[in-house]
Amino acid sequence: MQRIPQSVIEEVRQKADIVDVIGQYVQLKKAGKNYSGLCPFHQEKTPSFTVTKDKQIFKCFGCGKGGNVFTFLQELEGITFPEAVVKVAEFAHVPLEGIDLTPAAPVDTAEAHLIELHEETAKLYQHILLNTEAGAGALEYLTKRGLDTETIKHFQLGYAPASRTFLTRHWQKNQKDDELMRKSGLFNENQTGELSDRFSDRIMFPLTNPQGKIVGFSGRRLADDPEQPKYLNSPESLIFNKGRTLYHFHEARGAIRKAGYALLLEGYMDVIAAWQAGLGNGFASMGTSLTDGQIHLIEGLTSEVRFCYDGDAAGLHAIDRGIGLLKTHSSLKATVVLVPDKMDPDEYFRKYGSEALVHLIDKQLMSPYEFKLAYLRTQFDLDRPQEKLAFLDQAIAALAAVDSLIEQDMYIRQLADEFSVDAQHILSRLKDLQQQSAAVRRPAVSPPHKTAAAPRRISQIERAEQWLLYYAIKEAHVRDYLRQLSEVHFLHEPYERLYLLIDSFTAQGGVIEPSRFVDLLNNDAALLQIFTDLMEMEFAESTPQVIDELLFVIQQGEIQTKIEEKQIQQKEAKQMGNADLEFQLTIDIINLRKQLSHGLN
Ligand code: CTP
Ligand code: MN
Repeated sequence: MQRIPQSVIEEVRQKADIVDVIGQYVQLKKAGKNYSGLCPFHQEKTPSFTVTKDKQIFKCFGCGKGGNVFTFLQELEGITFPEAVVKVAEFAHVPLEGIDLTPAAPVDTAEAHLIELHEETAKLYQHILLNTEAGAGALEYLTKRGLDTETIKHFQLGYAPASRTFLTRHWQKNQKDDELMRKSGLFNENQTGELSDRFSDRIMFPLTNPQGKIVGFSGRRLADDPEQPKYLNSPESLIFNKGRTLYHFHEARGAIRKAGYALLLEGYMDVIAAWQAGLGNGFASMGTSLTDGQIHLIEGLTSEVRFCYDGDAAGLHAIDRGIGLLKTHSSLKATVVLVPDKMDPDEYFRKYGSEALVHLIDKQLMSPYEFKLAYLRTQFDLDRPQEKLAFLDQAIAALAAVDSLIEQDMYIRQLADEFSVDAQHILSRLKDLQQQSAAVRRPAVSPPHKTAAAPRRISQIERAEQWLLYYAIKEAHVRDYLRQLSEVHFLHEPYERLYLLIDSFTAQGGVIEPSRFVDLLNNDAALLQIFTDLMEMEFAESTPQVIDELLFVIQQGEIQTKIEEKQIQQKEAKQMGNADLEFQLTIDIINLRKQLSHGLN
């Protein structure tokens, strides 16, 4: 489709009223100067979807979605920005003569060609698996593991034959561009520049980007050869970024929305087992711990992540780490399913069947604290008094992460009962620990909150980032102040991006008008959510102290996050017996702690 001139977009925006357009889809009631109704983007019984006439934006306080009239239609109907403009234009009777509405030719970019190569390669690998003699062994293996053709097709599984020149020759014969092949990550290159297949004798799991396009592969070795890595992945490329990829995430989106939670598993085979059991909302982070980029993909979709990792020591450790990450880096609520007898979900499924797996995942939920206790129990020998004390100390320390006081109280009683200690003593130990960390973690910032916009549950650091952005939008002198600092760094990536956008937009003299600024956000779910949240807030004017305190909280949070990361690495170094690294990390942590207490002064 041809580009629509900016002047036409403006005219459409002026002539159409968001209240009328959304009113076509949602029954809106006037409430004060705004309108409200049931949100079309998530299931709800009481209205939390709001349309603000004077700002020409909408916001749902339940699921967080927000934007302008164009974003609303894009999201609701799954259409592009130009298509949404056309729709609104029709509605507002703005003639769009001379604008060609036929879809544009496929984009001719290196990315598009690389994706095409991957899509075609996946088809080829699947053909080998399902229809050829070369793939018979792999097919038999998968069948033995309980996968039928329907499953193989849903996951687009394939087989890379044992020959190291199969794919190379195939694409050379079909005259694929040599440069493109070299950039794809599907081939190895020797010193003389000759290509060979990266994947051989492997079951191929295609990896998709958030748009559902294949951008890489993970190949599981078929032969029982410990010399070869069990899984081999595509290298990072123009189209493949491991930290922003989650296995089966695109396909799981609909089911996640429906189920109301995201089921996070450890391995590909676990995702497949869950799918076969009817749980389509499963996906995996591919053997690594979650990254910020992955967390933000999930945040746009749901508010609960349910961890169901392998029940062995490595799995428990990974869950513990994952819960910590969600707590510091997101507003997502974590729950945990423990698979018994150190099994992984796939083994459990094969041993006990679909119903048992669904029951486990649906009914046997643990809160993060219950999980923490179960995890700690595996680390201490509670028959020995010394270890029992060490266990209790850690169990009490972990209580600090429980937000609800009632829940805290319940766990304190449980601990007191089980270990026959006075609940009061547990409580006072907890208070001591909390005071110690509060001194560094929570300087008192609380700009007066004038409106009652229901904020989603966010961390202290994120709250500070939110306020800082709020003032950067509303007050020109705050922007000037931030500009003359040597650096302003946000801990959460979307806040950083939004800040940079605001900064460059206003530096060129732009005035931030809500409905117009939304267009610049390019339908990015995270940015839209943050921006529309901000637009619904109203705080008293800032003072220099408030701004400095906000900066301070963010900077401290950054150091605190670094310390937590180093502590995890330190624990790992200890387990691996790497004393040098452990020592170096200890020094790093000490230095970071020093920065914590000195901070701003
Ligand atoms: N993984 C990896 N590289 C390896 C081993 C594992 O990238 N050498 C990742 C894969 O994403 C794998 C996940 O870690 O799916 C979990 O590993 P594992 O439990 O060993 O794999 P499964 O998926 O359970 O495979 P299988 O049941 O066939 O052993
Ligand atoms: Mn397994």
